[in-house]
Amino acid sequence: MTNLPERSVITLAPFLELIETRLGLKIPAKDYATLRHKLAQRLQSHSLRDPSSYIRLLSQDDRVAEQEWSVLATQLTNIESYFFRDQGQFALLRDRLLPELIERNRPQRRLSLWSAGCSMGAEPYSLAMLLTQLLPDIAQWDCRIWGTDINPAVLAQAKTGVYPAWSLRGVDATVRSHYFTSYLQGGYLLDPKIRDGVQFELFNLATGELWTNGGVDLILCRNVFIYFSQQAIARALYTLSQALRPGGYLLTGHAELYNQSLPGLNTQLFPASLVYQRNSTPADCAQPPSEAIPPSFHPLPNWLRPAAPPVRLLQFKHSTSTPAPFNRRPLSSSPQPPTLEIIAALLQAAQISLEQKDYTAARQYLQQLLNQDPQNFDGHYLQAQLEANIGNYEQAQQWCEAALQLQPLSIAIYYLWADIATETDHTEEAKRLLKKIIYLEPAEIAAYYALRSIYQQENQTQRVQKLDAIALKLLASLPPDHQLASPLNMTVAQLRERLTQ
Ligand SMILES: C[S@@+](CC[C@H](N)C(=O)[O-])C[C@H]1O[C@@H](n2cnc3c(N)ncnc32)[C@H](O)[C@@H]1O
Repeated sequence: MTNLPERSVITLAPFLELIETRLGLKIPAKDYATLRHKLAQRLQSHSLRDPSSYIRLLSQDDRVAEQEWSVLATQLTNIESYFFRDQGQFALLRDRLLPELIERNRPQRRLSLWSAGCSMGAEPYSLAMLLTQLLPDIAQWDCRIWGTDINPAVLAQAKTGVYPAWSLRGVDATVRSHYFTSYLQGGYLLDPKIRDGVQFELFNLATGELWTNGGVDLILCRNVFIYFSQQAIARALYTLSQALRPGGYLLTGHAELYNQSLPGLNTQLFPASLVYQRNSTPADCAQPPSEAIPPSFHPLPNWLRPAAPPVRLLQFKHSTSTPAPFNRRPLSSSPQPPTLEIIAALLQAAQISLEQKDYTAARQYLQQLLNQDPQNFDGHYLQAQLEANIGNYEQAQQWCEAALQLQPLSIAIYYLWADIATETDHTEEAKRLLKKIIYLEPAEIAAYYALRSIYQQENQTQRVQKLDAIALKLLASLPPDHQLASPLNMTVAQLRERLTQ
């Protein structure tokens, strides 16, 4: 067990601060236990026992830290997205904002659109589709569409243009058949002309660094700020407002900027959405927020900086005389997307379906996933969860066993299996599994609590007291208002009170 991190609860405060500073993310208290698991796994994968060594690693300005932040960005961001998400906003774009921008820019025939926090590309691709509909002479225009994100995995996926059916749930049949071709089992390949019309880049919105000084006509930055701290929103708003051309528009998710000061931006209220418009005089634009570079701010690793000035080749300007759009290339000529990315997309689709209790869809996605990657651990875990959710306990257990063959130390599987054992009245089995979790993660308060609950039902008072004493000792290192995650779902103070009653 030498590779396991220190057997104490990882103190989250310095990690929360670092994550906020570097990624902008404010991790909610309900996710603290998950974060702690993820951090413990990261420590383990670097063979570190001491959390402060991991903080030192993250604070370095070298390749190792760069890669580690890349892994954390991938693990900590919510990447939920789909085509034409928010029909109201897209109708507003189609009927009002884009036509206005097109008319305004007609003399120069140029247009710049930016989807900031674009996830797997559904958002900038939806914009590209709208633009091709609104601009019949698009080939004569200098149109640039960027999709940027902090998560390199979603950008890799975006570039393939391959999506599971779930990502097309906001798309009607006509649009679907116009822009997509069936691809692999149940997947869809985006029209390569649309795909090649968007340029994807890594860009971190949370640093207050400039992406470009003016020049962008429209920015979509939706469902990103809900995960940000107030300071990170202020830094990002500075970046976004500076990127906009005077008169350019910014759309966010609804109410994401509630109570936020808006640097250089005016608001316009449409029935479908609030829209922010850059002041016409650049001088009106705000200074960078003072928090943009906090005193403890470490220089950002290169990968979190804008890769290059965003001067991109015109994507829709075809040299061919065939009018754009939709002169589709035959499927065989499109590059084969890397399997890994398809797997990531299938996994995400399965997870979302499971959360939404759409078990038929979840089963289909998992089947496709495991056909392509039979050894996929996450696929096994989700399949076990799916079977357990619908009461197929025997199958759920078999999937747990198979998953443990792949990752013998996964406490997530042991928890799930212990739940199944409890649910099916196999109490001794549940105890064995909970003890295994404690062996693997001696600071797992939830496991002590679950075990003591079983002993309590059996009136094994001494055992209950012993476990309570350990749990209370672990709780002593946490602040009283610290929220313990599922399955505990209570604060430290509440659990302490329950254990001492
Ligand atoms: C929930 S998705 C929203 C995707 C899309 N905008 C939509 O509304 O469908 C949020 C995206 O923001 C990205 N993100 C989170 N923090 C970021 C940051 N600091 N800089 C850039 N992107 C970030 C995530 O990686 C994720 O892809």
